[in-house]
Amino acid sequence: MTTAIIGTGGLGSVIARQLASGGETLRLSSADNESARRLAAEIGGAAVAAAGNCDALDGADAVVLALRFTVLKTVLAEIAGPLAGKLAVVPSNPLTSDAQGNVSRVLPEGQSSGKVIAGWLPTGARLAMAFGTLSAGLLQSAGNRSPEPAVLFYVSDDDRAGQEVERLIRTAGFEPVKAGGIEQSGRLEVGGDLHDLVVGPAKARSLIGGA
Ligand SMILES: NC(=O)c1ccc[n+]([C@@H]2O[C@H](COP(=O)([O-])OP(=O)(O)OC[C@H]3O[C@@H](n4cnc5c(N)ncnc54)[C@H](OP(=O)(O)O)[C@@H]3O)[C@@H](O)[C@H]2O)c1
Repeated sequence: MTTAIIGTGGLGSVIARQLASGGETLRLSSADNESARRLAAEIGGAAVAAAGNCDALDGADAVVLALRFTVLKTVLAEIAGPLAGKLAVVPSNPLTSDAQGNVSRVLPEGQSSGKVIAGWLPTGARLAMAFGTLSAGLLQSAGNRSPEPAVLFYVSDDDRAGQEVERLIRTAGFEPVKAGGIEQSGRLEVGGDLHDLVVGPAKARSLIGGA
């Protein structure tokens, strides 16, 4: 199947390599498309650089928006037409950083980023928050672990979105575990109890009920 990845920086490039290794066909785009072109060339036949964000969704079953939280709303508005009827996977933490590198949350404490993003989605698009629970380095090293696969947690309100994101998580070399509905996105974020945990399925399931 085909997945669009918009954002081919630190995280999006790791997700792209893992999905391609698992057999997914990819359509990549980035702000100036230079990093998307470089990544497509590195991955080879399984990936192409699209002409832009909307073009990336052409023929794609789903899109991973590996973007800073602060550009998500604009990009979702840009791709609203082609996104209708598709799965949007969002790994973004609701964070921003200033010129000194000080990181702060862009939403009030306790407000669910998943709920906010759901409000930016066009009618008919399905949302799952996933692939943002591990730092890019951990995501890269924990994929296709054996004998016990590592878990990637996700949240979604939509059963079909859940099935679709579970397929992507398995394709990337992880075991999916649902942590709840979209309002639970805070558990996956930086500072959340399920963030940056490399655990197997049994431990993951015990943690789900633990909050
Ligand atoms: N990095 C991590 O370890 C990590 C881990 C977990 C979650 N996350 C989350 O993942 C998200 C991405 O993080 P990152 O570290 O990958 O950021 P990043 O390295 O800055 O990459 C951001 C990507 O977004 C692209 N972009 C920016 N504006 C765009 C637009 N209008 N249209 C299309 N593409 C656009 C950039 O394009 P160019 O390449 O052309 O500049 C770049 O490829 C963040 O929300 C972060 O919270 C990151």
